[in-house]
Formats: sequence, C-alpha cells, structure tokens
Amino acid sequence: MPPVIWYLKKVNTMTKIIDASRNPEALAEAAEALREGKLVAFPTETVYGLGANALNEEAVSAIFKAKGRPQDNPLIVHIAHRSQLSSIVKRVPDGAEKLMDKFWPGPLTIIFEKSETIPDCVSAGLSTVAVRMPSHPVALRLLEKSGVPVAAPSANLSGSPSTTRASHVIADLSGRVDYIIDGGAAKVGLESTVLDMTVTPPQILRPGGIGKEALSEVLGEVAYEPALKDSSLAPKSPGMKYRHYAPKAILYLAAAGEMDAIGKALSRFKEEGRKTGVLYFGEKDYEADFAISCGNDPEAYARALFDALRKMDDLGAEVIIAELPEEAGGIVPALKNRMLKAAGGQVLGKETQTGRV
Ligand code: TXA
Ligand code: MG
Repeated sequence: MPPVIWYLKKVNTMTKIIDASRNPEALAEAAEALREGKLVAFPTETVYGLGANALNEEAVSAIFKAKGRPQDNPLIVHIAHRSQLSSIVKRVPDGAEKLMDKFWPGPLTIIFEKSETIPDCVSAGLSTVAVRMPSHPVALRLLEKSGVPVAAPSANLSGSPSTTRASHVIADLSGRVDYIIDGGAAKVGLESTVLDMTVTPPQILRPGGIGKEALSEVLGEVAYEPALKDSSLAPKSPGMKYRHYAPKAILYLAAAGEMDAIGKALSRFKEEGRKTGVLYFGEKDYEADFAISCGNDPEAYARALFDALRKMDDLGAEVIIAELPEEAGGIVPALKNRMLKAAGGQVLGKETQTGRV
C-alpha cells in the first residue's frame, strides 16, 4: 500500500495531509517542520489542535492569521514531558503536582505563572500561561519528536465548531496551514478543562473533559469562575467572551425530553419553508429534514456534538434544534457550556442565557 500523503493547493499555503496510522515516518517530517516554524494541525483526545513552536513568535503569529483568531486570546502550550515545565512556568504549586500525577496526560489544562521564555504573543500579554499534556498517542509522539513546547488552539476557523475529525480540519484550514495529521475521531470531543492554579481556591475558567468533582477529589475546594455562572460579568479567560462553536444554521436548544416543544418548533420552521435539523439523545422520531441521534449518554453526545453541527451545515440545514442533556456532573457542564455558546444562548421557550454551566 503506498503511503497516504497528498497535496492540496489553496489560497497560499500548500497543505500536506498525513495519515498518522499508515505513515509514521511522515510524523517525523511534520515534527521537524513544527520545530522550524511551520503550522501543523494534529489530533488530540479532546479536539484537533493547530500547533506552532511556542518559542517562535513568527510561527505563533501565523496561528492567529490562519484561524482569524483575535490577538487577545491566549494559547495553550502543549508538552510531552513534565520536565519541560521548568522552562515554561515560574513555579509549580503542590496542588498542580497532584493534578498532573492524576490527570496528565489528559484533558486538563493548568494555568501557571509564566516564565520569560514564553513570548507574550502566546499568553496575549498575560503574566500566566496555560499548559497541557494531551494523551492522544499521535500528539505525544509529535510533541516528543519536535522537542519544543507547542502552542495550539483548536484547529478550526475562529468562531466555528471545533474540529473532532481530520475532515473538519481540512474543510476549515487546508490552504492555510502546512500539515494536517489525521489521527482519527477525537475520543472526548470537547476541549480540555482550563483550571487556574494561580488563585485560591483554584478556579475552573472553562469546563471540559475533567469535571469539577474529579478535581475536588484531588484539591479540595474548587470554584467555577464567577462569569461562568453570571453572564453580566467579564470572563477571566479571554476566549470565553467570544461567540464560539457556532454552525452556519440558526441553532436553538431545547430542554431535555421536551419532545412536544421540539416537534412543534420543527413543524413551525418547516411551515416557514426552512430546512430543519434536530440533534437528540436516544431513539426518537422527529419530522425534520435531517435528524441525528447523538447517542444515549452525555459522553457520547459530547463526542458527537461538533461533528453533528458540521454535518447539518454540510447537508444544508437552516435551523437546527438540539436537545440539552438532563443529568448534572461529569462532562455535562462542558457540554451545556458549548451548546449554549454555539446557540448564542437561545433556548426554546426560555429567556436568553449565555454559556452558563
Ligand atoms: O482541548 C483543548 O484545550 C484544545 C486542544 C487542541 O488542546 N485546545 C483549545 O485551545 O481548546 P483554544 O485556544 O481553543 O482554547 C484555549 C482557552 C481559551 O478560552 C483561552 O482564553 C484560554 O484557554 N487560555 C489560554 N491561556 C490562558 C491564560 N493564561 N489565562 C486564562 N485563560 C487562558
Ligand atoms: Mg477554540
């Protein structure tokens, strides 16, 4: 079987696409390119990331350009080994050591006080830096081979749903980045939990793959950043103030199990001549142009959400209704947070909310 590498020419950059499972040598080539200042999109267990050498200001600036990302939104630095931390952060609090023992590699990003080696463009001028060690084997191999800390936001065009498959990254970023590494579908499907360990008690700035209960088991008291609960406050994590994850279609959310409300809204939109889509839990029968069941439990729904929103857009849905999860805890606050942001807070029959957990 010939190696799976092909070239796409678009806009201004030639994008090389690598299938990590079939062509391990090409990973070394991508790692070398990363070290030299090129942009490499790679799989992680949460969502795909768009990486650049975090020590190279020009390469980091190219990330913002490729994504159309606002300059005031700092990036997460990805590492393969804990020994890399000492050059990136000023100090490692005891609690952070315990968290890393338990959750790294994995979907937890920790905020530390930043050392001078990390350029200001990575941290958007803040005195802190976000660091994460992903668990996807391809990500770890790439980071290891590159030998440098890698700044990487989610590999999507700014504002659109994050990418959980290489095909999503190709749709958004081919012609804008140097390499896209295909490592299959992301296992978590939502971004990492961002936890600020520079404050007491530690604060969750973005809910994610590791829930509050799991963090509290290790740390004791953990708080949600107040703006996650109160939308009138300015969020501490710059990225949380932007509209995110939005499909092209208009998205409405519906409370769990509200089958009647969903059915009525779908027929109203249909009468208006709009192409309708619905995302829901379990097995139900809806009269919509496109219906996607996102699984029976919140983890499965989290894994499927961004893919389903992108699929609906590709199919031409104009209005989508998505059913919210019922339970609390675990991945649910992260899932609700992403859904509310993607929908701009629009919940059927309720006043507007914004991204609350
Ligand atoms: O799962 C993930 O975290 C993925 C994968 C690729 O690792 N990355 C990701 O990056 O979601 P991004 O750039 O889409 O989101 C990073 C979030 C933003 O909300 C940003 O504002 C916040 O982390 N952040 C980064 N550095 C920060 C800092 N020093 N202080 C506060 N928030 C920070
Ligand atoms: Mg993002």
